[in-house]
Amino acid sequence: MIAEKETVLVTGGVGYIGSHTTVALQEAGYRVLILDNLCNSDVAVLKAIAKITGEEPCFIEGDIRDRGLLDKIFSNYRIKAVMHFAGLKAVGESAEQPLAYYDNNVNGSLQLLQAMQEADVRTIVFSSSATVYGDPQSLPLTENHPRSATNPYGNTKLMVEEILENLYASEAGWRVALLRYFNPIGAHRSGQIGEAPQGTPNNLLPYVAQVATGRRAQVQVFGADYDTPDGTGVRDYIHVLDLAQGHVAALAYCKQSDGELLTVNLGTGKGYSVLEIIAAFEQASGKHIPYQVVARRPGDIAECWADTEQAYRLLGWRASRTLPEMCEDAWRWEQNRSGQASGG
Ligand code: NAD
Ligand code: UD1
Repeated sequence: MIAEKETVLVTGGVGYIGSHTTVALQEAGYRVLILDNLCNSDVAVLKAIAKITGEEPCFIEGDIRDRGLLDKIFSNYRIKAVMHFAGLKAVGESAEQPLAYYDNNVNGSLQLLQAMQEADVRTIVFSSSATVYGDPQSLPLTENHPRSATNPYGNTKLMVEEILENLYASEAGWRVALLRYFNPIGAHRSGQIGEAPQGTPNNLLPYVAQVATGRRAQVQVFGADYDTPDGTGVRDYIHVLDLAQGHVAALAYCKQSDGELLTVNLGTGKGYSVLEIIAAFEQASGKHIPYQVVARRPGDIAECWADTEQAYRLLGWRASRTLPEMCEDAWRWEQNRSGQASGG
């Protein structure tokens, strides 16, 4: 007898990290059902996923704040677990529109959790962020580093972590994974899916990639006077496919227990500076990438990288892809994408 595939509901599965995780879940033998309102993604991603895996995920266009829709989904599908990516993520925008962020990220998560509780689906993997560590007091960042928030976006992540912790403590049977991402970059090696920011990218890597294609003139380096080896900010960049595989490992870990609250960093444990990233991308693309040092970006920290031991000890998972691979994959995707955009 062939075992029935387990269905995982992936909220925000059309987006950058959700789409790569959908590929990893399908490759690990799960059936994926995506719920996404497409506010920051393109439905064409579903066909691109099918090109990679041979299977188009089921898709429902809708909002995680729509409780009626959630109830229907949980009663119509036999969902085993939820991976919750849906949310807004732009730090600057969150300071301008805090209510939109609390509504989408916190209220949306509450609606989802209430629907899960009602349907007796008690396994959830949540997209948290290294932003919950605030300004690092010590490096590398371990999971027990004190938490704080410096902007509304970060606060939404902190609040949802706390809601999930309270829920876990209140009732037996919840299996909760809080995954704290460091800086996901790169794309699927097929060049079919990747990061597709709307408008001017907020994050370094997509900006650098657009300078390499000639779409933007030069990178603005936000400060070269930090207390770091070359004065520019240092971050722990992780390949999005390593991150995706970390989710599959976290789900497997949760499933083998009756109740679990797992909190792990998903990073590589190694930091690179802005100038090192620019140099690595020049190498991967063969393009000269001009840059100009400008003022620090308000709210930025000097440096940040993960302690990865807990993830390895508990999940047996480590990131394996190198910075050159991250840049090569991001470059392949950016070329495909800019070719498509110009009709080429
Ligand atoms: P993304 O914007 O590419 O994907 C998010 C997806 O969620 C999009 O497809 C969007 O349309 C959808 N969405 C948003 N609000 C929704 C709602 N109310 N209902 C249904 N769908 C909704 O972002 P991403 O980079 O893939 O990030 C995924 C998650 O990971 C987010 O929660 C983000 O905060 C978190 N995260 C991202 C990073 C990063 O660097 N990209 C770092 C740490 C944490
Ligand atoms: C930012 C968010 C963080 C979020 C993360 C992933 C802020 C303050 N923080 O983190 O909450 O979890 O994205 O989405 O926005 N840089 C430049 N020029 C650029 C862009 C960035 O020099 O055009 C520098 C930054 O100063 C930083 C590094 O590049 O040193 C990485 O920046 P970015 O990609 O925005 O990520 P974070 O700042 O780590």
